[in-house]
Amino acid sequence: MSPTHTIAHEIRNDFGVPFTHRLLFDRDVLNPENPLLDAVFEREDDDAPQSGVIAVVDQGLADARPEIKDAITTRFAASNLPELREVLLVPGGETCKNDPAIIDRILAAIEKHRIDRRSYVAIFGGGAVLDAAGFAASTAHRGVRVVRFASTVLAQLDAAIGVKTGVNRFEKKNFVGTFDVPTAVVCDEAMLESLDVRRWREGFSEAVKIACLQDAAFFESISDAADRIRERDLDAARPIIRRCAKMHLEHIASGGDPFERLEARPLDFGHWSAHRLESMSGFNLSHGEAVAIGICLDSAYSNLVGRLSKAEFDRIIDVMLRLGLPVSHPLLGDDRLVAGLEEFREHLGGRLTITLLDKIGLGAEVHKMELDRVRESIAVLHSIVD
Ligand SMILES: NC(=O)c1ccc[n+]([C@@H]2O[C@H](COP(=O)([O-])OP(=O)(O)OC[C@H]3O[C@@H](n4cnc5c(N)ncnc54)[C@H](O)[C@@H]3O)[C@@H](O)[C@H]2O)c1
Ligand SMILES: [Zn+2]
Repeated sequence: MSPTHTIAHEIRNDFGVPFTHRLLFDRDVLNPENPLLDAVFEREDDDAPQSGVIAVVDQGLADARPEIKDAITTRFAASNLPELREVLLVPGGETCKNDPAIIDRILAAIEKHRIDRRSYVAIFGGGAVLDAAGFAASTAHRGVRVVRFASTVLAQLDAAIGVKTGVNRFEKKNFVGTFDVPTAVVCDEAMLESLDVRRWREGFSEAVKIACLQDAAFFESISDAADRIRERDLDAARPIIRRCAKMHLEHIASGGDPFERLEARPLDFGHWSAHRLESMSGFNLSHGEAVAIGICLDSAYSNLVGRLSKAEFDRIIDVMLRLGLPVSHPLLGDDRLVAGLEEFREHLGGRLTITLLDKIGLGAEVHKMELDRVRESIAVLHSIVD
């Protein structure tokens, strides 16, 4: 456009939309005696078409808790809850994010059971099923209501709190997805009891992450509880899970960028390499484990470039090890790892923005990673394990 041209006419109107993001923590929420669901699901007035609900359930959760399907059916039989129209089982873990046919199955169920914008998709599962079924639900009718029942540690303290959904395409994590605020997130601590020990422990890497970025006192609390958490002590884990979830919620609600329009994504500390490690390992490394390694890598780097002290770097490694989490992996030495930096930049758009640590509790953004220093950081981590 020529510099002398002025637009003939512009109409502009800035607007905002208020959202409420609710997290509910309790135990045995499907027990008919527990009234929590009454506070979550609205039933329509008598003269409106009755709202319905379909439940999408993580197969891994259903395998570990065969009673869940009946429990869902029994609980939704209560007259004040929407009508339950199907309980659909979908494969858990990254399989459901990697296979477009599963998204189609969920969409087909939404269509078949006439789930409209006054009806619900209730999703029971780990972060992967919440992401995949949440994606399907957020695109049907441009978004039907979703209630997330988070069934892993990582989901209860992180994945289910995020206001986004995503599935993997072209071997890229979360390449396709939406921003979506659920009606509610329900965290039932009893569901965590059926996790195997690896799944239990891995979720806490995300708690270490947010503590490193924002809150040194929270880091201390995790460090104090680490040995008990490793041994699956729910009483030790409960305050850590709740505080971490609250911090994520506050970041979304008050951080000024819930839909990630800006370049930086501070909560993605340690994630550029984590996402890469997950896909390079064929998803043998889980998200939480990959994040533990990614945090250690970026902490080692922060130390080598003169930001984080060696003593604090050592503390981060110590907490990870006491939580029973990995701090290194042979795939770190694979040249494909650094391609993760460009992939990360592309996902966010704009300049590369990586969060490092100045100290525990204080993140710092940079726009460049020196590859020689990344390799040195990898060598540091390898030497810890050797
Ligand atoms: N949308 C977001 O904001 C966001 C944020 C962080 C992570 N994520 C995504 O979350 C995913 C990781 O989620 P995750 O760590 O919860 O693992 P997951 O969803 O991959 O589940 C791990 C395994 O546990 C099984 N499982 C789930 N609940 C169980 C239970 N109660 N008992 C026994 N087995 C159970 C699943 O079937 C699966 O095999 C990744 O895809 C990651 O990208 C999304
Ligand atoms: Zn994560």
